[in-house]
Amino acid sequence: MSKVAIYPGSFDPITYGHIDIVERALEIFDKVIVAIAYNTSKRSLFTVKERMTLVRTIFADVPNVIVDSFKGLLVEYVGKTNAKVIIRGLRATSDFEYEFHMASMNRSLNPRLDTLFMMTSKDYFFVSSRTIKEVASLGGAVEGLVPSLVARRLKQKFKLPVTKKKEIGWDD
Ligand code: PNS
Repeated sequence: MSKVAIYPGSFDPITYGHIDIVERALEIFDKVIVAIAYNTSKRSLFTVKERMTLVRTIFADVPNVIVDSFKGLLVEYVGKTNAKVIIRGLRATSDFEYEFHMASMNRSLNPRLDTLFMMTSKDYFFVSSRTIKEVASLGGAVEGLVPSLVARRLKQKFKLPVTKKKEIGWDD
C-alpha cells in the first residue's frame, strides 16, 4: 500500500523552506499532499486559488506531489484521504510550543493520526511566509528564499494601487 502524507499549512506564499520539507518528505513517503488551509483567523495576501496555482506550478514536474485545499478541521480533511501522517516543518525552538499544541490536539481528535516533524534545513531556518511578505512589501530582495515565480507574484501584489489593496482588504 502506498504511503501518503499530508503537508498542511497556509503557504501564503510557499517558500524554499516549505519546498525543502516536501522534497525530503518524498524520500519517506510515496505521495505528499500539500493541503492549503482556508484559514479564517489569518488575513492572507494570496487567495487560496492563487496559492494553489503557485504550488502546482512549482511541483508541475513532480507527479507524486498533489496540491489540494481544505476548510474546517484538518483531522476531518485527513480522514477523507488515505494518509495517516501529517508533516510539519520545525524551525527554531519558537515553533515548538505551537506545533506541540496543534499535534496534541489533532491526536486527541483522531488518535490514529500522527504528526511527523522535520527540522527545517539550516539554509532556511529563518525563512517564514510572514517575514517574506514583510521584506517584499518594503522592497527587499527575497530571491533565493522563494522561487522566482513567487518573488515575481509578490512584486506584482505589492505594486497594486492603494484603491485595489483596500478593495481586497489589505493595508498598504
Ligand atoms: O502554515 P500555518 O498557518 O502554520 O498552518 C496552520 C494550519 C493550517 C496547519 C492549522 O491552522 C490547521 O490545521 N488549521 C485547520 C483547523 C484545525 O484543524 N485546527 C485544529 C488544530 S489545533
